[in-house]
Amino acid sequence: MGIDLGTANTLVYVSGKGIVLQEPSVVALDRETKAALTVGEDAKKMLGRTPGNVETFRPLRDGVIADFDTAELMIKHFLERVHEGRIGLIAPRIVIGIPSGVTGVERRAVMEAAAQAGARDVYLIEEPVAAAIGAGLPVAEPTGNMIIDIGGGTTEVAVLSLQGTVISESVRIAGDELTDSIIMYMKKVHNLTVGERTAEEIKIQIGSAYPTMNIDEGSMEVRGLHLLSGLPRTVSIKAPEIRESMLEPLSMIIEAVKRTLERTPPELAADIIDRGIMLAGGGALLKGLDTLIAHETGIVCHVAADPLSCVVLGTGQVLENFKQLERVVSPRRR
Ligand SMILES: Nc1ncnc2c1ncn2[C@@H]1O[C@H](COP(=O)(O)OP(=O)(O)OP(=O)(O)O)[C@@H](O)[C@H]1O
Ligand SMILES: [Mg+2]
Repeated sequence: MGIDLGTANTLVYVSGKGIVLQEPSVVALDRETKAALTVGEDAKKMLGRTPGNVETFRPLRDGVIADFDTAELMIKHFLERVHEGRIGLIAPRIVIGIPSGVTGVERRAVMEAAAQAGARDVYLIEEPVAAAIGAGLPVAEPTGNMIIDIGGGTTEVAVLSLQGTVISESVRIAGDELTDSIIMYMKKVHNLTVGERTAEEIKIQIGSAYPTMNIDEGSMEVRGLHLLSGLPRTVSIKAPEIRESMLEPLSMIIEAVKRTLERTPPELAADIIDRGIMLAGGGALLKGLDTLIAHETGIVCHVAADPLSCVVLGTGQVLENFKQLERVVSPRRR
């Protein structure tokens, strides 16, 4: 089984079956008993909408486990769903993607949570490596490949060659920060308080990183709470202002890409110029992000066929070809 335990979404791949689960990494708990009421999509719908006795949690922050108990509960729940309640009998081999920049403590937290949830052999794989494999890059060849994985919590930039990471950089600025920027912008400029879900919808519907040729890039009606009157209100917003609002986190992502390119050994840099840069992760779906990165670096950018699934597909390929790809997983196993 392969797992992409993401800040925003958790995906599970089962050997021979493919992707069997894709759910938001959100848990709704009963505030008193701490029992899980619901997990995944249904819990995400509750974000910002809970009555006093229900609490919604996102157990991961910045790509790592922020709330251990809830994370364990969530993993257990998803694994049970995958195995339809027979988890104790199966105790599978699990390959889990983790951000390249995590500390030893954070690694152990992931392994521990998976083990507690019933996994027998836990292997860790660096997310950029998994993303590159999942995006179809020839990671085993002696060629430089650059992958940028922009998730909810982390952006990972890596140059890979011969099944290994040559250099990488992980910054804790990604899709969540883009959403946060929109929340702050709506408050500051439109005096409107909007929730995380609404801000994410704005980003997905009319957000962009680079202007298009279209004169009219679109607008959107946004509902929220007006700060001055304290009453609900609808405000109309336009695409360019939302792009402006995301400038700061976007430039931090660009800086990370440039820093990585500057540190790339010349032969590999030449390969990257030839082959282009691959974008993965949900953040890669932001309109115009490929154009922005291409513009800033002078290198062609490709968006992976299914950016949200790259990491889990990579863990799946490692499972299916364990002998050939064993070198890419961490030798530390339980
Ligand atoms: N169409 C879209 N346009 C812009 N952003 C999007 C789009 N679809 C999803 N996203 C963003 O992608 C992010 C989630 O991506 P993904 O599922 O790859 O993250 P993750 O793997 O859970 O996080 P991480 O790897 O940081 O732990 C969210 O911030 C979400 O808002
Ligand atoms: Mg991810």
